[in-house]
Amino acid sequence: MSTDARDEDRVETVEPGPWRRKSYALLRRGRQPNTLVVRALEFVDQPSGHALDLGAGPLNDTRLLLQAGFAVDAVDRDPLMLSLAARLNDRRLNAIHDDIRNFAIEPERYSLIVAINTLPFLLRSDLTEVLAAIIGGLARNGILCCTLFSVDDSWAECKPYMTFLTRDEVEGFFTELRPLEFTERVYDGVDADNSPKHWHIFRCIYQK
Ligand SMILES: C[S@@+](CC[C@H](N)C(=O)[O-])C[C@H]1O[C@@H](n2cnc3c(N)ncnc32)[C@H](O)[C@@H]1O
Repeated sequence: MSTDARDEDRVETVEPGPWRRKSYALLRRGRQPNTLVVRALEFVDQPSGHALDLGAGPLNDTRLLLQAGFAVDAVDRDPLMLSLAARLNDRRLNAIHDDIRNFAIEPERYSLIVAINTLPFLLRSDLTEVLAAIIGGLARNGILCCTLFSVDDSWAECKPYMTFLTRDEVEGFFTELRPLEFTERVYDGVDADNSPKHWHIFRCIYQK
């Protein structure tokens, strides 16, 4: 299993619709959880109640949340997620094969919401709506752990169906929440296809 901090950023070159090329879950199943989720758990006093993993893909973060003690709702439009979930055979896991834009996040249900390398794949108008629903879905003192991509990320030039943000825009989405940790990861690397890529990722942990 890879523990390279940069390897966990190697998100798929996935495009919505029938031209989508490959399953990120297939490429990345059986890996370690993202280090941002590990870090977010350090802010959780009692890992109990419900957690939500949006764009759960290979379920690497979901597995960690289950191990920590949460009942987990995991949402992804990739059907492979369902078979990976079945293999986990954990009654506390509710695997939902759906588009996160259609998934109704129940208000104040979740102690922890995780969205790792998923939200940038939404159009800006959808992202705004989904983020509002995420914030509404956090229980009191609930924790949000998510990544967003900067306008300086090299994909900003060539992926118009994704959303890239300035740091001010990211912070503007979360003014109702208390920032616990906000870091930027900037480096030159490769994507999942081994194509050169300049990464610029905002890594956020907030509390309601
Ligand atoms: C780069 S992968 C990250 C997966 C996982 N969060 C991780 O870090 O291992 C992005 C995931 O989001 C899912 N995804 C992207 N847009 C989505 C949408 N609108 N609805 C549901 N899932 C979506 C993809 O199928 C994929 O599994």
